[in-house]
Amino acid sequence: MYAQMIASQASDEDPKRLAAFQKRIDAGEKIEPKDWMPSEYRKTLIRQIGQHAHSEIVGQLPEGNWITRAPTLERKAILLAKVQDEAGHGLYLYCAAETLGISRDQLTEMLLDGRMKYSSIFNYPTLTWADIGAIGWLVDGAAIMNQVPLQRTSFGPYARAMIRICKEESFHQRQGFDIMMKMCNGSKEQKTMAQNALDRFWYPSLMMFGPSDSDSIHSEQSMAWKIKMNSNDELRQKFVDQTVPQANLLRLTVPDPNLKWKDKRKGYDFTMPDWDEFLAVINGNGPCNADRLSARKKAWTEGQWVRDGLQAHAKKNANIMIAAE
Ligand code: 3HC
Repeated sequence: MYAQMIASQASDEDPKRLAAFQKRIDAGEKIEPKDWMPSEYRKTLIRQIGQHAHSEIVGQLPEGNWITRAPTLERKAILLAKVQDEAGHGLYLYCAAETLGISRDQLTEMLLDGRMKYSSIFNYPTLTWADIGAIGWLVDGAAIMNQVPLQRTSFGPYARAMIRICKEESFHQRQGFDIMMKMCNGSKEQKTMAQNALDRFWYPSLMMFGPSDSDSIHSEQSMAWKIKMNSNDELRQKFVDQTVPQANLLRLTVPDPNLKWKDKRKGYDFTMPDWDEFLAVINGNGPCNADRLSARKKAWTEGQWVRDGLQAHAKKNANIMIAAE
């Protein structure tokens, strides 16, 4: 269905229609699922929203790893709620993608056979409890930096999903910072764990914003269509500027000898992540890629009976309704 939709639309992309579409975007109008849209706009949204949805779901794995080992009952309940929130975010996003004519099953199959990606960050392991703090503080912090502007994105269902997601992400960021604060004010060993977590998650968090603008394939068109509101480098800079003072407050050291505040441009100079490592991770060769994908494949295969059962139930209800009409 998706392939047919893309193919049938390609023929009717005449310049006048494209110009009228761009005019709507420039005027700040929202594009809704039944509106005409260029096939590339639809394709880009499916790629970005689908990748985002997969990230929310895969992101449950590294944190879920610590639910049974959280240090107190309160921390366990908070982490459990956070991981459940991520499942909800995945759901909102899959629903937004479905309005573009692709099913959740198709998106999942594309993830499992390697045609779609998920965020690079979730291919790193969570080795200590401090990593759960660092994920909330840095990873959810980076996600918010990227996602707050997306509340104004041009595609209506995506923008509306982002409004709900951002409210919860800001709670996630605060719970992460709270864990870090507790550990930094605790014993020497706890402070060392917090520093190690920052050391391991700093550069992977910077990678979340994507390649440098000069290497970003999609940014220019996505920004013209307001599918993205900012460039990768713009958001990365804002994240560094916001996060360094927070690290200072925790009395932690950002692992970057080149970090320097530049008064003139009101921002930090900083070292970019290792782009070779980034490319390896997004191409399937990060520390946990194989584990993450095999966990998703297992869940998909073992969950088949649930999907079959739900579909049979929906079919039965539909038949009852038809018979009653
Ligand atoms: N991880 C994996 N792949 C990445 C990536 C990352 N961090 N950054 C870029 N890429 C990929 C792109 O998908 C693209 O590959 P493709 O053509 O095969 O899809 C390629 O690298 C080139 O990058 P571009 O800059 O051209 O790609 P985009 O314009 O799509 O920009 C993005 C990348 C900034 C991540 C953008 O897609 C985006 O803003 N996405 C929405 C936000 C999102 O997906 N966030 C996930 C974060 S995790 C999360 O939210 C979970 C929460 O619980 C913490």
